[in-house]
Amino acid sequence: MSNSYIDALKKRRSQYALGKDLPLSQPDVTALIREAIRLSPSAFNSQSSRAVILFGSQGGKFWHFVKEALRKIVPDTAFAATETKIDGFAAGAGTILFYEDQDVIAGLQKQFAAYADNFPIWSEQSSGMAQFSVWTALADAGIGASLQHYNPLPDAAAAAEWNLPASWKLRAQMPFGANKGGFGDRTFIDDEQRFRIFS
Ligand SMILES: Cc1cc2nc3c(=O)[nH]c(=O)nc-3n(C[C@H](O)[C@H](O)[C@H](O)COP(=O)(O)O)c2cc1C
Repeated sequence: MSNSYIDALKKRRSQYALGKDLPLSQPDVTALIREAIRLSPSAFNSQSSRAVILFGSQGGKFWHFVKEALRKIVPDTAFAATETKIDGFAAGAGTILFYEDQDVIAGLQKQFAAYADNFPIWSEQSSGMAQFSVWTALADAGIGASLQHYNPLPDAAAAAEWNLPASWKLRAQMPFGANKGGFGDRTFIDDEQRFRIFS
């Protein structure tokens, strides 16, 4: 079976060895990320996902916030390893911060009270779809990335630095850059465990 979407999915992996040189210009990377998020589905077409795209030293600033927050909670003996990991994210070409606008979710809860409990869940699912769309689009363009979750540690510093609305809630961070390393083989659980097909 040949399918260009499946081919793109095969290229998406967690890349932790990131470099600064990208195969695309910054405007093209920006356009790719914007389009991937714009084309991602959301509950009730609420389009609750928001993104902050940080290139170069702006991305470095974000990882500095993370590092300083971690320094306060990670034991001294373990901090060197933590620092190496964070520096690896900062070594990339940039980082995408994925947010969900809580005002949109509160508005939906008010408008459609019967579904009130579901909207926060659907918001998380919508965010995951946006993250996955971007990750796959970047991979297809030859750009490596990984998915990180240091929220809520750097949330306040990031909101202040980039003057972000209070209603934006940080859900995930995606450092991206040149693929500087290879990938191990993918492993899969048995299909029998996963799928039930009836016809
Ligand atoms: C919801 C979700 C949360 C994840 N959180 C993290 C994370 O915090 N840090 C990380 O390095 N990878 C994270 N990952 C990446 C997975 O560990 C990774 O996708 C999985 O091991 C398969 O490897 P692959 O991405 O190379 O296919 C997350 C993935 C998903 C879908």
